[in-house]
Amino acid sequence: MAEKIYNWGIVGAGRISRKFVDGLKDARNARAYSIAARDLTRAQQFASEKGMPVAYGSYQELANDPNVDAVYIGTTNTEHCAHAILMLEHKKPVLCEKPFAMNRQEVDKMVAAARANNTFLMEAFWTNFLPSMNAVRKIIADGTIGEVRCIHSDFGFFREYNPNDRIFNPQVGGGSVLDIGLYPVFLAVTLLGFPQRVRAEGIKTHDNIDLTASMFLEWKNGAFARLVSSFTVNLDNEAYIYGSKGKITMHGQWHCPTRISVTVNDITTDYPVTSVGNGYNYEAEEVQNCLAQGLTQSPLLPLSHSTRFISLLDSIIEQM
Ligand SMILES: NC(=O)c1ccc[n+]([C@@H]2O[C@H](COP(=O)([O-])OP(=O)(O)OC[C@H]3O[C@@H](n4cnc5c(N)ncnc54)[C@H](OP(=O)(O)O)[C@@H]3O)[C@@H](O)[C@H]2O)c1
Repeated sequence: MAEKIYNWGIVGAGRISRKFVDGLKDARNARAYSIAARDLTRAQQFASEKGMPVAYGSYQELANDPNVDAVYIGTTNTEHCAHAILMLEHKKPVLCEKPFAMNRQEVDKMVAAARANNTFLMEAFWTNFLPSMNAVRKIIADGTIGEVRCIHSDFGFFREYNPNDRIFNPQVGGGSVLDIGLYPVFLAVTLLGFPQRVRAEGIKTHDNIDLTASMFLEWKNGAFARLVSSFTVNLDNEAYIYGSKGKITMHGQWHCPTRISVTVNDITTDYPVTSVGNGYNYEAEEVQNCLAQGLTQSPLLPLSHSTRFISLLDSIIEQM
């Protein structure tokens, strides 16, 4: 029997949607099928650029299309909740960009909609599915660096302040934590579990957008993480995972690294990682694998994790 090909519908014709569609080329059994934008011309331009057969001038039309097998939501942060619920209510499996939504209340509504419609929902935390992340998990599971005691990671780039730019704009959910700071937080949580305590400080714009955030997480066993995000400076964007016996370095850009090294007894060796595509292919394949098994959430990134994760981000943002 021929394998099922999954028709992806894309919501929002912006930058990340373009990258996701590029990623689909390297996802097994995936097809970039339809694009919906708020404006038909934008959708048609996207479709012709990416060789997609169907373009819609509204998100509702994509929700109504019976040929769509899975939906990717690449709209601005403040719209994720409404767009995910729209698709779930039309029984469309949803992969929704990070941050999953603006806060815990919104994520709860999305999860409730997924449950009420018995339909798949997953946060598009693409780094969770990368071979590099699996390599780090394996190095730790093998005991090579001993017990993880400290994570030090940052994610910062310089962007000229422009109030109309999505990342600086409170109307569409701007701010460094929700845009990039969540990557180091996710890494720490992935490797150490949810922390006992979190402290955060930030530098903000006049309209309450965090340009820089400093986060300190603590665990019961004494492990800790010091994490930074910033829009005001190009940081090294490396991640260091220190254990009782050694250290893993995820070299820059650590969230999609080209190099991972392990240091034990002052000797550093590169750890080989094989990767295909631009990285977004792996999360798409995870969705398809789950759908093929009739699952409504991913065992590798369950909704309970996304719910606790947004609560942690809420707490960081509240403290700043
Ligand atoms: N995973 C990653 O690596 C990654 C990287 C960058 C961004 N992201 C995430 O992806 C999302 C989009 O980021 P982006 O950089 O692609 O932004 P973008 O280029 O500005 O695209 C955002 C899209 O949102 C749509 N939209 C719907 N309602 C909107 C509204 N009320 N105001 C403004 N836009 C609205 C627009 O779609 P129409 O075309 O329909 O007008 C626009 O194309 C964000 O949540 C961001 O955090 C993820």
